[in-house]
Amino acid sequence: MNSLMSKKYQVAVDGFSSCGKSTLAKQIAQLLGAVYIDSGAMYRAIALIALRNNCVEKDSVNKDCLKPLVENVKIEFQPSDNHLILNGEDVELEIRGKEVASHVSEVAKHGFVREKMVKMQQDYSLTNSVVMDGRDIGTHVFPNAEVKLFLTADPEVRAQRRFDELKEKGMEQPFEEVLENIKQRDEADQNREIAPLRKADDATIIDNSVMSREQQLEHALQIIYVKLGEAL
Ligand code: DC
Repeated sequence: MNSLMSKKYQVAVDGFSSCGKSTLAKQIAQLLGAVYIDSGAMYRAIALIALRNNCVEKDSVNKDCLKPLVENVKIEFQPSDNHLILNGEDVELEIRGKEVASHVSEVAKHGFVREKMVKMQQDYSLTNSVVMDGRDIGTHVFPNAEVKLFLTADPEVRAQRRFDELKEKGMEQPFEEVLENIKQRDEADQNREIAPLRKADDATIIDNSVMSREQQLEHALQIIYVKLGEAL
């Protein structure tokens, strides 16, 4: 396999909120020696800009306010720890907070936001093999990705994982609130007009409701090695 790895490839990891996509995608990228890109973090960064600049009024986005900020935005990922650097500032902690989580779906539904993010995501792959997690990677960003995985798990299982993660970071929230946010984001992500969350026809589903992280990784790697072996 290593001799084949000199050719650039894309691994798309899509799925519902809090399904463990980023954990899996990070592990895969590390094992393959590819670059990991968290596309959700990019939409979160735009939500943060919108909030900081008062471009969110009640629950809707003021496009005139947000557009110029999106046009000029610079988003990078710090190679040492994957932290998102927004216009030169490390905003990793802020983009994981409650405020951003509750506005990100609204921000991510707009065409001008998605176009800019998709362009940036495609550009990252010009010079590197990438493992990218998100909602529309296999359907829109990389429709020809060599490997497409689609992760899913029961909402309660996902809410418990997210609850534990937030608690560990000292950002604890009531379980019911976490579950409600996950359900709302599922609904918004699947029903938005542009690039809604859906499984690409050629993606492989992994339901990890009752899988450990190790089992999931092993399962995903089996799929990846077969697909990359066929494609490269
Ligand atoms: O993966 P995440 O939970 O960090 O993503 C945050 C939000 O960003 C999610 O509610 C939907 C949106 N998103 C998107 O619209 N398209 C992507 N490729 C990734 C995330």
